[in-house]
Amino acid sequence: MEANAPQIVVLDTGGQYTHLIARRVRELGAYADVQPSNTSAAELRTRKGIIISGGPASVYEPGSPDIDPQILRLGIPVLGICYGHQLIAYHLGGTVQKGVRGEYGPAQLSLSCDDALWNGVENSQIWMSHFDVVSSIPPGFRLTASSGVSGIAAMSDPGRKLFGIQFHPEVVHTRFGKQILENFIFGICAANKDWNISQRVPVVEEQIRAIAGDRNVFFFVSGGVDSTVAYTLCLRALGPDRAYGIYVDTGLMRKGETEFVRGVFRELGAKNFLVDDAEQEFLAALHRVHDPEEKRRAIGEQFVKVQERILATEHFLDGTWILGQGTIYPDTIESGGTAKADLIKTHHNRVAGIQALIDSGRIIEPLTSFYKDEVRAIGHEAGVPDRFVMRHPFPGPGLAIRCLCAKERAGVARAADGVLLPIRSVGVQGDARSYRNILALDEQPNEHLAAQAAPALVNKRSDINRVIATCGAKARLDDLSVFEATVTKPRLDLLREADALVREFCLQTGFENQVWQFPVVLVPVGIEQAREAVVLRPIQSMDGMTADTVLMEPRDLERLTEKLLELPAVSAVFYDLTHKPPGTIEWE
Ligand code: XMP
Repeated sequence: MEANAPQIVVLDTGGQYTHLIARRVRELGAYADVQPSNTSAAELRTRKGIIISGGPASVYEPGSPDIDPQILRLGIPVLGICYGHQLIAYHLGGTVQKGVRGEYGPAQLSLSCDDALWNGVENSQIWMSHFDVVSSIPPGFRLTASSGVSGIAAMSDPGRKLFGIQFHPEVVHTRFGKQILENFIFGICAANKDWNISQRVPVVEEQIRAIAGDRNVFFFVSGGVDSTVAYTLCLRALGPDRAYGIYVDTGLMRKGETEFVRGVFRELGAKNFLVDDAEQEFLAALHRVHDPEEKRRAIGEQFVKVQERILATEHFLDGTWILGQGTIYPDTIESGGTAKADLIKTHHNRVAGIQALIDSGRIIEPLTSFYKDEVRAIGHEAGVPDRFVMRHPFPGPGLAIRCLCAKERAGVARAADGVLLPIRSVGVQGDARSYRNILALDEQPNEHLAAQAAPALVNKRSDINRVIATCGAKARLDDLSVFEATVTKPRLDLLREADALVREFCLQTGFENQVWQFPVVLVPVGIEQAREAVVLRPIQSMDGMTADTVLMEPRDLERLTEKLLELPAVSAVFYDLTHKPPGTIEWE
């Protein structure tokens, strides 16, 4: 929805940091977008600067991401980062070699001469993540910095405005990374400060009015940040009579969620916010379903049915309506290696009516230019309360994928390292999904277990993908059993209760701000009188693609465990020690 081409383009060679580079440039105040690496020089002629991202490939491999070499002759400043640095060397007559060994992690930058990139930069820590190296620089270039393994850490040809750096300025571990990007964007490219989120809201509202014309907009709002902010913008742009929000209560929501969402929209002045109570339908769809992928499929199909029913009864398919969606920038980009495939495990099927609206262009997506943190800032600007815009992500299939099931009763097995629970959870190793048992340790969670023992155990044993520690239990681990269970209302209510208890506790202690997400999982493991266990899964993450376990203060954890064990059906409280990979954030 943007008229002018952004000043800075980041060419995507498949690196996991591509979007991070664009975000950093925007944070510095210049509008940047991401385009495929091979975008033609002709298309980039109006840009003020070009950044070629890092990526996992090797320049000599057939089929590896490439650039249009003409971009190096446009006279527009180019900064190659990591693989981008190697591409510049490769195209201009330097050489790139397989590294003797890869270099991952911190290294020391040693500046060799003055350079426009180095204004205000000192010899300091940089972050490396590469295998190949530039082994000789192209004619016309000079070495501007060196470092341990890679030797040529940076090179430039100031006359042609070409710059290459082997390290990653976009990550916080590179001490002067921000300064280097700032030098490139404002010093070398002479870009203007044209990106300020607080000024975007009126622009986006104007765009919404232009697209909608005299038609009304309806949204399926999920209660997530993106759809809520998108709907709020339409509400502001078109007025409450013309913006409809429909929220499907699947019965798989957290405690108080529907009331919370309703309250937020009431505060925002929505008149046409409808809640569709579909709990019975979803519970029926999940009746006797045990398998995680089947659960997702059942929920997805049920969503389609509910949406079809709503589209028909509310007459949303007639010509006076268009569909609003909360699509954000990273969702719109098809790029080489930055696959989102494992982030969303199974997509909801597309409703035929919604597909028809999309095909006929009757769709409005106000947030397609923005990153998540920008969506939050826009939401804040548009008056969405902070307790809403700052909330943790929550998966579409809801608590169903945190409510584990079992087909039959089974005993646990004592192994050398702990107790093997005959129940399976999903994990991810390499690019592949795993579905394996869980090893429970008799110990309390601690630094050593999280950092060393748990990862070593998952590596060693091929029958597990997760290790959990025991916070407290009403019986010895050896006396626990797995009980037959599916997703039922009583189990969901118990999980809602446990989850709400954890959330309230974390808000009180401030732990909420130390984690990116904190799933609470219900597992049908226990003793006859208390057949369920609660697993705590607090993690830190940047974007959900990888995650680290976060430990809680032992005294806080003890108090929380006591509270959870007061729930009569709960036999034990566990703490997930598994990073992602090899575990996924969610258990299913
Ligand atoms: P995993 O479990 O794959 O989760 O490590 C990564 C992030 O994605 C969220 N997630 C989902 N979100 N629909 C969603 O909208 C889904 O089906 C889904 N599955 C996982 C998860 O909560 C975490 O933030």
